[in-house]
Amino acid sequence: MMLHSIVICMICLTFAQVNGELDNNNSLQKVVKTSEENPAFSVSLKESGNFGNAKVKWTSVDINHQNLFNTLDNSLEITKTGIYYLTMTMTLSKTSRASFSLEKTGRRSGMTTYNQVDGRESINKRSLHLLTSLNRPYVKQVFTTSGLVGGNNRETAWAGFHYDTDHYFFGARDEEWEDQSVIPLPITMALRGFQKHGNKLNVLSTGLYFIGFSSAFNALAESRLTIRSSESSLRHSIRIHHITRHPIISSMSLLANLQAGEDIELQLGSGSLYSDTDLQTSLTLFKLDSNKSYFYSKGEKGSTCKPDSINFGSVKFDSDNSWIPSDQTYVAPKNGTYFISVNLSFFRKRESEEAYIEVNGVKKTTLYKHTFYIIKETPAMGEVLLKMNKGDKLRVVNRGCEAVITINIHKQLKAFFGSTTLSISSVRKWVRQFKGGRTNILDEDRPGCLKTASNNENKDRVIALIKDNRRISQAEIFKH
Ligand SMILES: *[C@@H]1O[C@H](CO)[C@@H](O)[C@H](O)[C@H]1NC(C)=O
Ligand SMILES: *[C@@H]1O[C@H](CO)[C@@H](O)[C@H](O)[C@H]1NC(C)=O
Ligand SMILES: *[C@@H]1O[C@H](CO)[C@@H](O)[C@H](O)[C@H]1NC(C)=O
Ligand SMILES: *[C@@H]1O[C@H](CO)[C@@H](O)[C@H](O)[C@H]1NC(C)=O
Repeated sequence: MMLHSIVICMICLTFAQVNGELDNNNSLQKVVKTSEENPAFSVSLKESGNFGNAKVKWTSVDINHQNLFNTLDNSLEITKTGIYYLTMTMTLSKTSRASFSLEKTGRRSGMTTYNQVDGRESINKRSLHLLTSLNRPYVKQVFTTSGLVGGNNRETAWAGFHYDTDHYFFGARDEEWEDQSVIPLPITMALRGFQKHGNKLNVLSTGLYFIGFSSAFNALAESRLTIRSSESSLRHSIRIHHITRHPIISSMSLLANLQAGEDIELQLGSGSLYSDTDLQTSLTLFKLDSNKSYFYSKGEKGSTCKPDSINFGSVKFDSDNSWIPSDQTYVAPKNGTYFISVNLSFFRKRESEEAYIEVNGVKKTTLYKHTFYIIKETPAMGEVLLKMNKGDKLRVVNRGCEAVITINIHKQLKAFFGSTTLSISSVRKWVRQFKGGRTNILDEDRPGCLKTASNNENKDRVIALIKDNRRISQAEIFKH
């Protein structure tokens, strides 16, 4: 099964008009007029590394409209009050762990991952905030150890933009959830143009919306998280077959037409969700400006990849007729800055496989990269801001793509874990230790190497868990 989707939304037009004008001195003055340029930024890490327990120092500034990003203190300077979409991407190298937390937005929102396989793992977290000049958002790395991957392809990055909209919602929860019913999102970070009643969200204005939802999923389960509407055909799920012992965050985004009066809800179909103070379970919605370009395509179940390109199947929205199906290419309809959200889902990978976004044949951002065989279904979610000129060609490329091989996941789970079962409560305990470790239990110089431990009992438990994970990681990799 391979399900892919891509969402492209133009977030601002950036016409830079250079006019020559004569001043009183009869000398030519250049007047640079920028119109409809929204505050937007995109920064990344050039070098791989580790920041300790501190603010991330971004070394590459790729986009900085209206000087939204302050390069001196690595935070955002909000001059235009309004709604901001922010997205963090973190890529980890072999057996390392990291946690990013978004600070100074009113309430922290974060993501944590532990890469126990012999390759790289990327995770992504989005949020929506109403920001004023009193907020100075920045990204903090919480663990003192991690192997963050840097480079020219925005492997570890932070991006965001202001969006003019009167209809938005960002809600989250900070506790786990396992009932198969509507999931409450008690923490409302931004709400306008919707009405929240109970666990449902009532749409007040008909139109086209960006919808994103995500959660961390508890380990060792097959989980399904669904967004659905009471009236329209909106129904999309994140399905995840989880075979590691730590929660893994997964997200999905789409565009959909919503009708005034309908209710939107998040529902757990199976498995259980993990959420904590980092607000790991969340729902993001905002109404799109229909004067700007937008595009959304969703892959069909079972679609295969042609050599070097991924098939995005059926086009749901394409404001400017910009998609060329035969080339699986998006041709930018206008000069501007575009927000691109890609969801890839792979099953069996060939060795040395990489998926990335390219513009005019030049690689812009890596979405996925592995150098070994992997059995579990692997989602790869990427969000990026790119400047494109009219006519620029954007493609998602997959080097090393091969036909889908169907593997029965239940069989695989049994093969990995034999008769041993891991209860949800022991997973929770593990998670608590894992999270607690970021301040006082675990302090590693190198992955897996303990430097300090606040008490011996914890230390022993943590070592045992790390050993456990080593075993799992070996079983997970399909060696040839
Ligand atoms: C788009 O950008 C290109 C390259 O900067 C420029 O030559 C062209 O005039 C721009 N088009 C518009 C409509 O601004
Ligand atoms: C030329 O322009 C500058 C400022 O633009 C002004 O200070 C100066 O007086 C002008 N000189 C003349 C000769 O007009
Ligand atoms: C996105 O990836 C997830 C796996 O995390 C998958 O369950 C989902 O169906 C994908 N969505 C689309 C639209 O392809
Ligand atoms: C779209 O453009 C039209 C005409 O330029 C304008 O009247 C309308 O307000 C615009 N809509 C939005 C949402 O900006």
